[in-house]
Amino acid sequence: MIPLKRRKVVPTGAGNTGSEETSPNKFPQVVLFLLERKMGASRRAFLSQLGRKKGFQVEELFSEGITHVICENNSGDEVIAWLESQVRGRGRATAHLLDVSWFTESMRAGRPVEILDRHQLQQQIREVEVVVFSAPSYACQRRTTLDNHNAILTDALSLLAENAELSGEDGRGVAFRRAAGVLKGLPEPVTAVTQLVGLPCLGGHSLRVVKDILENGASCEVEDTKQSERFKVLKVLTGIFGVGVKTAERWIQEGIRGLQQLQDSGRTLNRAQQAGLQHYEDLNQHVTRSEADAVAAVVEEAVASVLPGARMTLIGGFRRGKLTGHDVDFLITHPEEGREVGLMPKVVSWLESQGFLLYQKTTKNSYLEGEDGPARPSSNMDRFERCFSIFKLTEEVNGEGLKPWRAVRVDLVVSPISQFAFALLGWTGSKLFERELRRWAGHKKAMSLSSHALYDNTQRRYLRASSEEEIFAHLGLEYIPPSERNA
Ligand code: UTP
Ligand code: MN
Repeated sequence: MIPLKRRKVVPTGAGNTGSEETSPNKFPQVVLFLLERKMGASRRAFLSQLGRKKGFQVEELFSEGITHVICENNSGDEVIAWLESQVRGRGRATAHLLDVSWFTESMRAGRPVEILDRHQLQQQIREVEVVVFSAPSYACQRRTTLDNHNAILTDALSLLAENAELSGEDGRGVAFRRAAGVLKGLPEPVTAVTQLVGLPCLGGHSLRVVKDILENGASCEVEDTKQSERFKVLKVLTGIFGVGVKTAERWIQEGIRGLQQLQDSGRTLNRAQQAGLQHYEDLNQHVTRSEADAVAAVVEEAVASVLPGARMTLIGGFRRGKLTGHDVDFLITHPEEGREVGLMPKVVSWLESQGFLLYQKTTKNSYLEGEDGPARPSSNMDRFERCFSIFKLTEEVNGEGLKPWRAVRVDLVVSPISQFAFALLGWTGSKLFERELRRWAGHKKAMSLSSHALYDNTQRRYLRASSEEEIFAHLGLEYIPPSERNA
């Protein structure tokens, strides 16, 4: 403790000796404290004396009255940790945390200079502090909402994925999709590649693309791909409903470069492709949520009319909460096993009779339930009764001059109630999430998952489930709701 007498003479603390010249406190709003840590005791004593000479109040001990903490060679984290240990139980100190440069500049100026960003330790932490992200490897272990903080990066990687898929390089496509999937789930924008060191699925190629974008604002590879004639033509041609990569490739080899040329070439197109070409513009325009709801109302009515008690569920991207989609997907079932048999043709007839269908193609279910479970899936192909269709959707609200309807792609799937949970999980997506669920099942659990069933290779039996939650539980995964499956 400082003797009372002395305090009277030297109100600014014990570091001062009576022999030293001090000016009266000229700046009552400013109470300084110099942190000894890393500054050293002698330099601290020297700077304190200097401050007092210039008329500053410099305290020896830290207290809540301190307005400015002066530090040298300390990181913001270190100072905050130290402060917290000092003010424990007395509330968080609100003092400015300043670099010694503020002090020396103030000494030079003979008054407290304005606090600039460069003086502030807190500011420095924010710049220095780098969040290093981490995430589990499988997309089905992660929660990926639609709130993507790295759309610029994921769009670029998705474009490269698309290009790889259009070039028949599916492996590369998956790698880019996985990399994009990881970035989609990050809680904030990436600012430096060093933040990504601990993340899975980011290979050298993807990291290079990310680095180019972060450092230069764009990736040459992505820009070149976007501009490439081949990519552009492939996108246009595969953008025709019913045209896959192989057909598009063949046409390109035959010299076809666009829609007009295709039409003029007199190529024989199948029914799907004819419809695709005819409604090209509509089908390449996003379906909105309200259009999806309008389609849902129609399908609901169709289902209720042909089989009362049957249930219809919106699946695909719209179930995940997306606001737009390339189509609208529905899963139909009946709570009594077997009642769903023959349902699809009836629904389709009803829709056709009401004039809702511009095109439809139904495929049969060849996936039958045996005595002790569903037939073993031989591949990941789905064998549900399924209808690919193009709806003629009348638009309720119409601006003048707009045509009164538009073409919308609609996928209908019928499943028996015993497989409903698997179908629901399998058709909700995203495609990457599904792929990762199957990969997880196979690699981590020795199980085979399809949209029909889950087979345990160790126990050599099917695992039943009547909800998505049960399937996640069988797989040893935390339940992820649809809105968080947007990997
Ligand atoms: P979509 O292709 O409709 O994707 O398939 P999406 O997520 O709804 O996206 P947009 O908005 O339409 O573009 C929906 C789900 O159905 C599965 C896919 O894996 C995806 O998860 N699916 C699709 C199949 O299982 N088999 C198929 O033949 C097609
Ligand atoms: Mn869809």
